[in-house]
Amino acid sequence: MPPEPESKPLKHINIAIDGFSSCGKSTLAKALACTLHYRYLDTGAMYRAVAYFALQKNLIALDGQVKTAQLIPLLPNMQVGFVLDAQSGASLVALEGKTVEPFIRNLQIATLASKVSQIRAVRDYVQILQKQMASEKGVVMDGRDIGTVVMPQAELKIFMTAEPQVRALRRQMELENQGKPMDLQTVLEQQIARDYEDAHRKEDPLRQAEDALVLDNTHLSAEQQLKWALEWVKQALQQE
Ligand code: DC
Repeated sequence: MPPEPESKPLKHINIAIDGFSSCGKSTLAKALACTLHYRYLDTGAMYRAVAYFALQKNLIALDGQVKTAQLIPLLPNMQVGFVLDAQSGASLVALEGKTVEPFIRNLQIATLASKVSQIRAVRDYVQILQKQMASEKGVVMDGRDIGTVVMPQAELKIFMTAEPQVRALRRQMELENQGKPMDLQTVLEQQIARDYEDAHRKEDPLRQAEDALVLDNTHLSAEQQLKWALEWVKQALQQE
């Protein structure tokens, strides 16, 4: 009989994090990936990259609508992916191998990303890549449809919420730190509009997976929410 291995191989699970914008999803997802040495995938950044691509190709009409019929044939050549930032070790979203990270973290792209994400062909294109990454296991992904569509088999699913006013305040602070101050009422109005579109669209609307754990972080610090999530990771790993 072959000798028993001394220790079992390390198990890896997939972690799906969904929720509205500015709920702290990426903060938690990054912290989990860093602690567990998992891969982090920011799926919203991929839709933002598509939005940026559409803007660059003049595929946004004057009324702000996406020229869908012209965008769809260009998707196969768009090459959305990730490149590794040598300095920080982070994965940065890229188009044709070049990061577009500096151009996608603004409200114009956020609004356009919400619009392009309503196009079925865009979702199909982006989800193929996301599902490929999920198949490798040991992935933390955040977005709107991760627990419901992209990784319905994820061992741990978290649905994040926080009070709208608190989320808007967090977003306002973020914008201020980027040197783009905006009044709270405008931030809140844009947030409400985007939340509505993300939850009411036809294609993969944001909703809580039936087996997702709800995390309301209105009154939690980043450290507290990480501690909470790590307890659930421990339980999920024990069940493997
Ligand atoms: O998470 P974010 O704010 O970067 O996402 C930008 C937009 O992309 C969001 O308004 C909806 C869309 N999105 C999506 O439809 N599905 C995802 N998994 C992630 C984001």
